[in-house]
Amino acid sequence: MDFKAYVADKLAGLTGLTRDALAGALETPPEQKLGDLAFPCFVLAKTLRKAPPAIAKELAEQFGTDAYIARAEAVGGYLNFFFDRTAFTKDVVQAIRTAGGDYGRSDIGKGKTVLVEFSSPNIAKPFHIGHLFSTAVGNSLEHIYNYLGYTTVKINHLGDWGTQFGKLISAYKRWGDKAVIEQDPINELLKIYVKFHEEAEKDPALEEEARDYFKKLEDGDPETTALWQYFRDVSLLEFNRVYDRLGVSFDSYAGESFYSDKMQEVVDILSEKQLLTDSDGAKVVRLDELNIPPCIILKSDGATIYATRDIAAALYRKRTYDFYKNIYVVGTPQALHFKQIFAVIEKAGFSWAKDCVHVGFGLVKFPDKKLSTRHGDVVFLEDVLNESVQKTLEIITNNNPDLEQKEEVAEKVGIGAVLYTFLKNSREKDIVFSWDNMLDFEGESAPYVQYTYARGRSILRKADMDYSGADFSKATSDDEYALIAQLAAFGDAVVDAAEKNEPFYVNRYVTNLARCFNKFYNNYPILRSDVDTETKKARLAIVDVTTQVIQSALGLLGIQTVESM
Ligand code: ARG
Repeated sequence: MDFKAYVADKLAGLTGLTRDALAGALETPPEQKLGDLAFPCFVLAKTLRKAPPAIAKELAEQFGTDAYIARAEAVGGYLNFFFDRTAFTKDVVQAIRTAGGDYGRSDIGKGKTVLVEFSSPNIAKPFHIGHLFSTAVGNSLEHIYNYLGYTTVKINHLGDWGTQFGKLISAYKRWGDKAVIEQDPINELLKIYVKFHEEAEKDPALEEEARDYFKKLEDGDPETTALWQYFRDVSLLEFNRVYDRLGVSFDSYAGESFYSDKMQEVVDILSEKQLLTDSDGAKVVRLDELNIPPCIILKSDGATIYATRDIAAALYRKRTYDFYKNIYVVGTPQALHFKQIFAVIEKAGFSWAKDCVHVGFGLVKFPDKKLSTRHGDVVFLEDVLNESVQKTLEIITNNNPDLEQKEEVAEKVGIGAVLYTFLKNSREKDIVFSWDNMLDFEGESAPYVQYTYARGRSILRKADMDYSGADFSKATSDDEYALIAQLAAFGDAVVDAAEKNEPFYVNRYVTNLARCFNKFYNNYPILRSDVDTETKKARLAIVDVTTQVIQSALGLLGIQTVESM
């Protein structure tokens, strides 16, 4: 049952306002002691020509109490409603048990398609920590939209085209050794790419050579194309290894190269709309009215660039998927780039430009390492994952030496810890990587939440009894009720996360849920012999549905649960 709708209905009868208007006006009070819902009576002050506190008092008397609402109380200009705890608990527990893993789902997105572009690493370059940030946020956003009934499409806009491939081909021709590359493809390709830059500083002719190779690639020359294909294949093999570990998959790998033959259309549209102007031989779209630099469409040598490929990609996506939203999960340093391409699309007369959204995120700081792919001193993502799993293994071996399948548990918890770190705060905030925080089993971390889940599951296993048909009048303390209220709030957290494109709403939600659970668990014995059977059943049922919701919420973050740890 929808308690909010119930209150709105009853209030509608008393005030003459519509049910919808009332549902919109009803708020969730900031503290439990102020009730479950609050109606701000100033909404009625004008029509009734009375002071809000007087209205609140009158309505409180008229509202009275019933089987669902234990109390309606006037506090200042507010009318606060207290649900009947037994009725509400019963209702929430039942709803979760019925829906199972679908609790909190909705169909508000039905019939609408949301594209989520994320990860998008560059071929022959390491998959670095910024790409991991994008992967964590994008994967979670996709799950969140999906949960709300949207049709979702996961796109990996691979960086597999551009003048850098001319450089790489030139480097490969000079210093490449296939046998060595086969051993450790991305590192080796990176090595020769770095060497190219060093050598080109001494001998500028190399740059010329690289430009020629890229031209050949653009013209479809078979030998250079085969090399490029090889670089792409070995890179994807490595990327997929990481995606498998993270439990991430894509519907499309249409990256930059996919649009290499779809760029003429962009140039044609822009020139037909007379948006292209010359600038030192290059063709650009001026964006003076927005006070931002022009968007370069064609370089002076006629080559297209990153931005042109993105405009071609947006046109293609609209045509192919007719999206409701086209989301790009890319670091905030590229904010200007997206502003430019969205502005160009808008100027070209496409009203759906407003449905393109750049979802940015901050930088990842390692207390003593810098992140850059040019100079070789990058932090490799796989090293981060391995280290996290290794450290987790040490901790759980220490805490629980007899645990079975330790390696498997450490993999899920260690990876979960990394993902959680990226989803912990508002995404635009920079992250300082700290193993101590990430793996703090008592702090704000994935292990803390995963441990809470495992704890709950362990009680259920130990209890080994049927707790259906529990009497929830046995579980109405403040701590129990706070947990129930938190369980009921799951759906709202998912909606908030989608509205702001901020998975951290779900992250914060599940962390708070774990906190509420632990408070309940620490204060109320469940299996102790002095607890009567009815109370035991009620508490077990609450444990059961809590573990269910923790699992669903972590699932939306791409984090797995373990049965023991
Ligand atoms: N490959 C780019 C990079 O690593 C990110 C691509 C972002 N997506 C886009 N549509 N431009 O920086």
